[in-house]
Amino acid sequence: MVQKKRMLVMTGGGDCPGLNAVIRAIVKRAKLEENWEVLGSIEAFNGVLSDPMEVVLLNGKTVSGIHIRGGTILKTTNKGGPFAWPVEQPDGSWITVDRCDELFERLEKLGVEAVISIGGEGSMDIAQRLYEKGLKVVGVPKTIDNDLSSTDVTFGFQTAVEIATDAVDKLVTTAASHNRVMIMEAMGRDAGWIGLSAAVAGGADVALIPEVPYDIEKVAAKIQERIQGGKGFAIVVISEGAKQKGGDVIARESDEVGYHNKLLGGVSHQLQANLKKIIPNIDSRVVILGHLQRGGTPTAYDRILATQFGVKAVELVLEEKFGEMVAYQKPDVISVPIKSAISEYNYVKPDSNLVQTARSVGISLGD
Ligand code: F6P
Repeated sequence: MVQKKRMLVMTGGGDCPGLNAVIRAIVKRAKLEENWEVLGSIEAFNGVLSDPMEVVLLNGKTVSGIHIRGGTILKTTNKGGPFAWPVEQPDGSWITVDRCDELFERLEKLGVEAVISIGGEGSMDIAQRLYEKGLKVVGVPKTIDNDLSSTDVTFGFQTAVEIATDAVDKLVTTAASHNRVMIMEAMGRDAGWIGLSAAVAGGADVALIPEVPYDIEKVAAKIQERIQGGKGFAIVVISEGAKQKGGDVIARESDEVGYHNKLLGGVSHQLQANLKKIIPNIDSRVVILGHLQRGGTPTAYDRILATQFGVKAVELVLEEKFGEMVAYQKPDVISVPIKSAISEYNYVKPDSNLVQTARSVGISLGD
């Protein structure tokens, strides 16, 4: 039997609805090429670097029906990686070592000719560095935060917005019943896409996002206007990375080995306490949506986009367009250099139409 060429696919960084739809599309598109087969590395590059290796052959059977499932059948990690592999020392402390050379040797042993890395900014950064060292890699962007530039949107984002909007809708009825202020915290470390979108879709009164530092007095004034105006209740959406004017994000260090991000979450409690100081007579409750926004079935839109991305990724491999990342630039699915995709961050622009629309329908950004 003729030895088939092998492409290796992996998912890295935080999970995101639609990852399985990408994996399925990659396997299905590659199946059209008789001389190629697809391997999957478990937990990003960890599968290749583990002993024994955790690398699986992906075929029609393994990917059948997975497009409707959240998470990733290949598992994922946002710790470590080939450039900073954590190694425990005899005294219990940890150091990191560079295992790139070993990674290349192992990939050669596996007969891998190309790698498809599905991930966010961190994974794309690793992919770019490996590409510069000679790895034949293409990238597929994923993030619920929608914070990657070069692509109009990433899959997973719309699903997260649906979940957050559904939460706003549910909070409205309980807020109205009790005449309360409901503060809902959405994900979004540096970009407020999810929070702002859910605020517009759900008709919130206040949307506080990282890109627009807020003034607590203005937030309080908006809430009082709502309550005194006869509504009696108010809905505030706040992104986890939002901050007060002149203030910092609420974050703490993680004690997980190899995890370098700051742990966000909890800014809504600070907001609640500060509002109480200005309007002592309000009743308020906090809901932090957290990882709920990353779970469950992807929306049809995200499945379609994820499928388009998977197909395009295989085509980039076949065309040997390495160092490129799949991107959606309406109406086309194209590719852009990974390097340029990670050089810029996709912030919500304060003068964008979405922000203007929010303001026009009476949503306060607290500025
Ligand atoms: O990058 C997406 C994101 O959902 C952020 O909004 C959030 O802060 C982060 O991931 C949390 O990820 P994890 O808990 O998996 O490290």
